[in-house]
Amino acid sequence: MPSFPLMKPQRPWLSLLAWATLTSAASLRDFTKYVNLFIGTEGPVVGSAYNSGNVFPGASLPFGAVKVGIDTTRWDTSFAANGGYTPDGNVTAITMLHESGTGGAPTYGLVPQMPLTSLEGVNLMDNLTYMQPRPTKDIASVGYYKTSLANGIVAEMSATNHAGLVRYQFPENTGRYVVVDISHFLPSKGKKEQWYSNGMIETTEDGSWYSGYGVWRQGWSGGGDYRVYFCSQYDTAPDNVQLFSGPYTDPFWPNATNAKATFTNGSSIMGGTVGYQYADRIGALFSFPKNTSTVTSKIGISWISAHKACQFLEEEIPHWDLNTSISSAVDTWNSEVFSKIDVQSSNETLLEMFYTALYHAHLLPSDRTGENPNWESDEPYYDDFYTIWDTFRCLGSLLTLILPERQTGIVRALIDIWRHERFMPDGRSHNVNGRVQGGSNSDNVLADAYIKGLRDGINWTDGYAAMKTNAEVLPYNNYDPEDLTGSTKEGRGALPDWHQYGYLTPNFGRSLSKTVDYSLNDFALSQVARVEAPQDVALYLNRSAGWQKIWHANITSLNFTGFLAPTWANGSVMAGYDPLSCGLCEWDSISYEGVPWEYSFSIPHDMQTLITLMGGANTTEARLDTMFTPQLSASNVGGNSIGSTIFNPGNEPSFMTPFLYNYLGGRQWKSVLRTRQIIDQYYGNSRSGLPGNDDAGALSSWLIWAMLGLYPVVTQPVYLLVAPWFDDISLKIETGTVQITADRPTAGEVYVQRVTVNGVPWNQSWISHDTLMGNEGARIHFVLRDKKAEWDSGALPPSPGHLG
Ligand SMILES: *[C@@H]1O[C@H](CO)[C@@H](O)[C@H](O)[C@H]1NC(C)=O
Ligand SMILES: *[C@@H]1O[C@H](CO)[C@@H](O)[C@H](O)[C@H]1NC(C)=O
Ligand SMILES: *[C@@H]1O[C@H](CO)[C@@H](O)[C@H](O)[C@H]1NC(C)=O
Ligand SMILES: *[C@@H]1O[C@H](CO)[C@@H](O)[C@H](O)[C@H]1NC(C)=O
Ligand SMILES: *[C@@H]1O[C@H](CO)[C@@H](O)[C@H](O)[C@H]1NC(C)=O
Ligand SMILES: *[C@@H]1O[C@H](CO)[C@@H](O)[C@H](O)[C@H]1NC(C)=O
Ligand SMILES: *[C@@H]1O[C@H](CO)[C@@H](O)[C@H](O)[C@H]1NC(C)=O
Ligand SMILES: *[C@@H]1O[C@H](CO)[C@@H](O)[C@H](O)[C@H]1NC(C)=O
Ligand SMILES: *[C@@H]1O[C@H](CO)[C@@H](O)[C@H](O)[C@H]1NC(C)=O
Ligand SMILES: *[C@@H]1O[C@H](CO)[C@@H](O)[C@H](O)[C@H]1NC(C)=O
Ligand SMILES: *[C@@H]1O[C@H](CO)[C@@H](O)[C@H](O)[C@H]1NC(C)=O
Ligand SMILES: *[C@@H]1O[C@H](CO)[C@@H](O)[C@H](O)[C@H]1NC(C)=O
Repeated sequence: MPSFPLMKPQRPWLSLLAWATLTSAASLRDFTKYVNLFIGTEGPVVGSAYNSGNVFPGASLPFGAVKVGIDTTRWDTSFAANGGYTPDGNVTAITMLHESGTGGAPTYGLVPQMPLTSLEGVNLMDNLTYMQPRPTKDIASVGYYKTSLANGIVAEMSATNHAGLVRYQFPENTGRYVVVDISHFLPSKGKKEQWYSNGMIETTEDGSWYSGYGVWRQGWSGGGDYRVYFCSQYDTAPDNVQLFSGPYTDPFWPNATNAKATFTNGSSIMGGTVGYQYADRIGALFSFPKNTSTVTSKIGISWISAHKACQFLEEEIPHWDLNTSISSAVDTWNSEVFSKIDVQSSNETLLEMFYTALYHAHLLPSDRTGENPNWESDEPYYDDFYTIWDTFRCLGSLLTLILPERQTGIVRALIDIWRHERFMPDGRSHNVNGRVQGGSNSDNVLADAYIKGLRDGINWTDGYAAMKTNAEVLPYNNYDPEDLTGSTKEGRGALPDWHQYGYLTPNFGRSLSKTVDYSLNDFALSQVARVEAPQDVALYLNRSAGWQKIWHANITSLNFTGFLAPTWANGSVMAGYDPLSCGLCEWDSISYEGVPWEYSFSIPHDMQTLITLMGGANTTEARLDTMFTPQLSASNVGGNSIGSTIFNPGNEPSFMTPFLYNYLGGRQWKSVLRTRQIIDQYYGNSRSGLPGNDDAGALSSWLIWAMLGLYPVVTQPVYLLVAPWFDDISLKIETGTVQITADRPTAGEVYVQRVTVNGVPWNQSWISHDTLMGNEGARIHFVLRDKKAEWDSGALPPSPGHLG
């Protein structure tokens, strides 16, 4: 055992702790071998990305600003390849910016390189003339991606925070080209599609460096032109560089494939006047000497300047060795993320599901600290919230527990965006707030962080003011064609009704689901107000009961009475209303991406009132059972609908429903049953192992919690207890370790018989955040057997939003 002669610890336990950390770092388990980057890349139809998790399978660090991966074509243009990748498409480029798990119109797929062996038949203005099929399956591991193209080129890549490293291996006796088409982006059809706008490239005299910028617009968050700078270096000087340009294209340009490139000599080319949206497409064609079999390229990305992009490239990849970048990515993922939850199991399938989910839950938002082009600030900066509507339910709480410093940074970034742009975002990409699917759910994120004690560097005076802006200030209407009734950019577009009636009338789009969301949002305000503004608590608690104003005791569906219903200002219900239906569940529907049956369960802050309104615990249980009865789903929410139950495993509004039996007393075993059924049926370690778009890791975070045997009640310092999927889990938290253990003779024995917390018998189906944190963490021990038991006779989980 080495000694540390210089260390004179004042607190011996601290040095023990430090020692433990050091030794465990030395013998750190490599969790990355359990990560299967292709889980979630295919949908129900094997070999197709249609209805898949849309996850990004390329190379990235946790929250990496750069995500290096391939972009491919797709047969079926009714959906978009949001992560760039499809299993069956042809490669059109390797690009540096991606999102992961998102649906809707894709964002990014920017700053490309495409390696070719021949220019015969190639029109550089038309990627379909040079796209490459992949005869073999791609290979990926944490920090590494490899694709073998039909033209014989093998491309391997890795990523650092702001740069990519790509290595091309060319076959013998062919040409060696790299095409850089700045106008490349992930295409889609229909609403909010992206658009190339302008660009510039310059090369050094020998052609081994090039840098410049591209300008793009729109994508899911909407928004006008934004600029991304790049800087790239090859390890081999090309023997020829030609810059090219061609007529502008946009999604509506009918003649794109007729366009021909014009080549120029010279060392720089510009699309057009800065800001001109009909600028030329531009690019560069590099050809390399025949005697080089590999060409390696580093590509740095900056949102500030090309100079900074070059700096990133030099600082983060001061070598040409792919393996160095890969092992550094592996180390980062292990130390920052995976080692936070050390799970023991002999079942490799479960380990793969768990650690891949953990991986997917830490890709977004992108850490762009120091890379905000719009204002200078000492605050951290995160972009690519896509979206908080998806992630607020349980992903934020995961970060708060295992990566509190990250979550602190994210909260500070949200508040800083409010400081400079008047509103925190719900969705945000390329520095543009947009779009808002429901409430102002940043309120929930902030409240969750607040009640769990995140303080370090967060100015909570401003944090609460930012929340109050959401609650009180009407954002301007951006007249989104999908819902003209109020802002979809930020804030709460339906505040006038909320303030006047305490609920939203159908004069606003998504009035029912937004009433539910605004209720939780105002509960979130009341939680922070308890300390930051005690005079406001009553006001926001009162408003948090707004959902009750659209609860109608006379509405019946599937033999249950009492439902939320779209309610006009005079209190009457919208004609023809059916709680099983929301039309298309779209922006201008009565509820968004979920039917009223689902939203009628989404009142985490006041389950007590909800259960009373539903007719008591027994009826609520029967209603919950109905949520999981096959063939009862009567509404199709498009690609977001999975399965035939009203409970929809593929989308967020249903996330908490399977855990709600915990609120009924003695029926926790059914939460165990439901969550296990859902995981068994819909999750797995195959490529189609996610039941829908991962939504920036939202689905993955749901899986993580369910497998840990805990579920966070967002905006409350409370976790519901389910049953762990593993017999031994060590969760590293700020104060120490949460040790979750299970006594279970065989894997199939899942029902809780007894629980102890820190050795003390525990009869309530939930645990507080304080208990979990303890002085140095906590020990939760489950005794699991195959018979159900009504062990949860203690106090029910709290309903702090319950009034009087
Ligand atoms: C991929 O390329 C092959 C060969 O050029 C072509 O036959 C096929 O249609 C392409 N597939 C897609 C999805 O673009
Ligand atoms: C490739 O070309 C097609 C057809 O011109 C175009 O629609 C698409 O946007 C281009 N880019 C990608 C990444 O597929
Ligand atoms: C598209 O091409 C056709 C045929 O080449 C031509 O007649 C037409 O003017 C072009 N459209 C535009 C917008 O350039
Ligand atoms: C580029 O330079 C070469 C050699 O000097 C010349 O043959 C060619 O015409 C030039 N091309 C253009 C587009 O000016
Ligand atoms: C390739 O050829 C060039 C010039 O002919 C020479 O300078 C270079 O060293 C050669 N490179 C290799 C890898 O052989
Ligand atoms: C990189 O690592 C792989 C796998 O460990 C090994 O096969 C390869 O030889 C290494 N490459 C270099 C250049 O060290
Ligand atoms: C491992 O877990 C999976 C998923 O629950 C299950 O299908 C499989 O049977 C388990 N394997 C073993 C060996 O227990
Ligand atoms: C928080 O920010 C406000 C203004 O933005 C400032 O007045 C106040 O001093 C800050 N509080 C702390 C603790 O820094
Ligand atoms: C909320 O406040 C209003 C008056 O300000 C009162 O009439 C109403 O009963 C309150 N609602 C609840 C649920 O306490
Ligand atoms: C509702 O009740 C009626 C009469 O008891 C019964 O026939 C029907 O099957 C019930 N429907 C459902 C969905 O349970
Ligand atoms: C339920 O009550 C509301 C409000 O009074 C009314 O508008 C609606 O028509 C009633 N619905 C049924 C099914 O009775
Ligand atoms: C609820 O159901 C249980 C078990 O069926 C029964 O014992 C109990 O009396 C019921 N409670 C009420 C309030 O109906």
